[in-house]
This record gives sequence, C-alpha cells and structure tokens, in this order.
Amino acid sequence: MQIAVLKERRPYETRVAATPESIKKFIALGFKVVVEKGAGEGSHYTDEAYENAGAKMASTPQIALKGSKIVLKVQPPMTKKDGGEDEVKILPEGSFLFGVLQPYTKPELLDEYNKQNITAFALELLPRISRAQAMDVLSSQSNLAGYRAVIEAANAFEKAFPMMMTAAGTIAPARVLILGAGVAGLQAVATAKRLGAIVNVFDVRAAAKEQVESLGGTFVEVETQETGEASGGYAKEMSDDYKTRQASKIKEVLQKSDIAITTALIPGKPAPRLITADMVEVMKPGSVIVDLAVESGGNCEGSILGKIIVKEGVKIVGYANMPGRIPTDASAVYARNLLNLLTLCMDKETQSLKINWDDEIIKAIALTRDGKTLQPQTGAK
Ligand code: NAI
Repeated sequence: MQIAVLKERRPYETRVAATPESIKKFIALGFKVVVEKGAGEGSHYTDEAYENAGAKMASTPQIALKGSKIVLKVQPPMTKKDGGEDEVKILPEGSFLFGVLQPYTKPELLDEYNKQNITAFALELLPRISRAQAMDVLSSQSNLAGYRAVIEAANAFEKAFPMMMTAAGTIAPARVLILGAGVAGLQAVATAKRLGAIVNVFDVRAAAKEQVESLGGTFVEVETQETGEASGGYAKEMSDDYKTRQASKIKEVLQKSDIAITTALIPGKPAPRLITADMVEVMKPGSVIVDLAVESGGNCEGSILGKIIVKEGVKIVGYANMPGRIPTDASAVYARNLLNLLTLCMDKETQSLKINWDDEIIKAIALTRDGKTLQPQTGAK
C-alpha cells in the first residue's frame, strides 16, 4: 500500500506531513512511500534524507499520487479557487486523505472529496481522550505555538525579560499576561517563566487555575458563579455580564503588563475578543501583544493576519501559522501523530488498511466515506 506525501502549497505553510523518521517507520510497517520533491524544504528535511529513509521521490504531485491509496497533508488540499495547483482534482479516486482539513471553514471541500469517493479524516477533530493523545495534532502544534509566541514576543520587545541585578542598577523583570490557559497558553507560561518573566494568566475554565499555579504563574480571577467549561474540557461562550467583569479585570492587569499573549479559542466559533482598542491604549509604549488566535478572528482588536502593526506605541503581532515558524519540530511531532493514527488504522498481519468505523477516534475525525458526508455539523451538504 502506497502513501503519498505532498509539498504544502498554501501561504505561510512551511511544515510537511512526514519526516525521514516517520517514513522509515511506515516502511517498516509494510507501506511504500512516495514524497514530492522539495516537500521537506520549508522544514529542513532534504530530498536526500527522504531517499535515505527509503522513500521514492516524485518530481510532481501527480507522480507522487499515482498508485497511492493514502495521502498525507498538513493543510487542506488547494482548489482552483485558491489559485495554483488544484490538489483536490488530482487526488486518486477512492483514496484516504489525512490532514488538518478545516471542515468548519472549508465545508465546500467535502463535496469535492465525495465526488472522488475520497475518505477524508480531519485530525483536528480528534477527541481529547488519553488513547488519542499520541495522535493529537492540536496539542502537538499548540504546544510549539505557545513556546514560539513567547520567543516572538521577546524578539519584538525592546527590553529584557529577566530581572538583572547589575553594577549599573537593577533591570525589572518583564510582566507577561497570558489569556487562555489551554495547551498553547500553558506552554507560554512555562516558556515565559524560564525566561524570567512575572506571569499572570487568565482563563474562563476554573480547572486551569491549578495548572497555571503549578507552572509558577498567578491566576487572575473574575468573580462569578458561571462555569466556563463545556464538554471535552473546552471553553464555552460566556454571558454578557461575565464578559463585562472579565474586560475590566483584563484592562486592570494589562495596564501593569509589558507583554500579552492571547491564545483563547472556542471550538467552531470565532475567537472571543478579549483585548479591545481601549485596552491597548492603557498599555505602556513598547509593550507587545502576540495574538495566537488571529487566524480565528483574533483575541485582540486590530490584529492583522501575517503582520506586526503598531498602535499607540504597542506592537500587535499577528503572525499566521505560529507552529509553521518552528517547522522542523512542528513537522516532526505532526508526522509522529500521523504515524500513530495510521498504525491504529491498519492490520499489521495483512499490512493493509483496516479501519474500525465504530472506534470513537475514527468516528470523530472521519468527514466523508463512500461519497457521503459523515459530519453534518460542518455545514456541508
Ligand atoms: P483551545 O485551543 O480550544 O482554547 C485555548 C484556551 O482558551 C482554553 O484553555 C480555553 O478555556 C480558553 N478560553 C476560551 N475562551 C476564553 C475566554 N473568553 N477568556 C479566556 N480564556 C478563554 O484549548 P486547548 O488548548 O485545545 O485545550 C482544550 C482542553 O482540552 C483543555 O481543557 C485541555 O486541558 C484539554 N486537553 C486534553 C487532552 C487530553 O488528551 N486529555 C489533550 C489536550 C488538551
């Protein structure tokens, strides 16, 4: 059974869905692997390293896909509408596609998969259960995004992070406010602490308090009887009364902060607006905001996808695809997530795909099968 690994073509994407390490393991499991030339360029995996791992190289995506039953991607395939190569049209009829397929924002792609009888799996829909942890791309990528957000903040910030006591006097430590203490937020807390900052953290889920404190952060509390926890440990949208209290608390803490890193997301909804223009105004000139939610509409008013802007002396960093800014490691862990998922989907004895359609992991991520859409909540027909 042949696996194709394509070069990612969407803007800002530097990652790749398989690495020489994961390919070696796929081959040991009995797969053949074809990699499109240059697929690993953005994350520093050379064609030679893929060949040494046992992959065949293909000069075009069409050649890579010829005879392939499984297609590994990071981003959803491009369509004609996106410009450039129409990757959906060239996917082999009846193939199995794995990637972060974004069915909520790109539901039209599901119809395209169905037309070609493609079985598509959206990795970001994996349930947050212990058994799925080794396959969990949201966690593996958010963790690196949280780390990188602090590094980007430190780079944009024109002062030091740690407290320094020198003969020329003391340099005060940076004060960092992290909004959202999920996987990315908690890694941001750990990274900012390692750099020597004083870290305050806010999340609507009360369960986050203990995790934040265990990392040495201070949890900012908003007085409320409301719970911010929805099913699966995710956050829910809060009431207007809560939002007002939260806003005044965030503004108070922002006034004393040098850096804000925002990571708050609500699954299937636009990101909550946590920092408004009047809050940016109260920050000191030279402060930095890194908006990790910029691709979902942004937590900070005015953040622009792919840009750093300056408002009232405050830099607002809206880099797209933060995991893609640390692509070697992001690809390595993504590739291992995929390897673990495919291991679940195969029969070791016959060395072929064997998907258990009753498995809760498969049920959660399968978008299309036999020409039909399996997840009507995505809004696709
Ligand atoms: P996410 O990326 O969906 O959201 C990031 C954070 O933003 C969350 O902590 C959320 O509570 C917070 N947030 C949402 N709205 C907010 C608002 N208005 N103000 C402040 N914060 C707000 O979250 P992520 O990182 O995907 O984690 C979601 C849950 O899944 C967490 O409870 C996490 O511990 C859990 N998890 C469980 C795993 C498992 O295998 N058991 C693996 C990974 C995560």
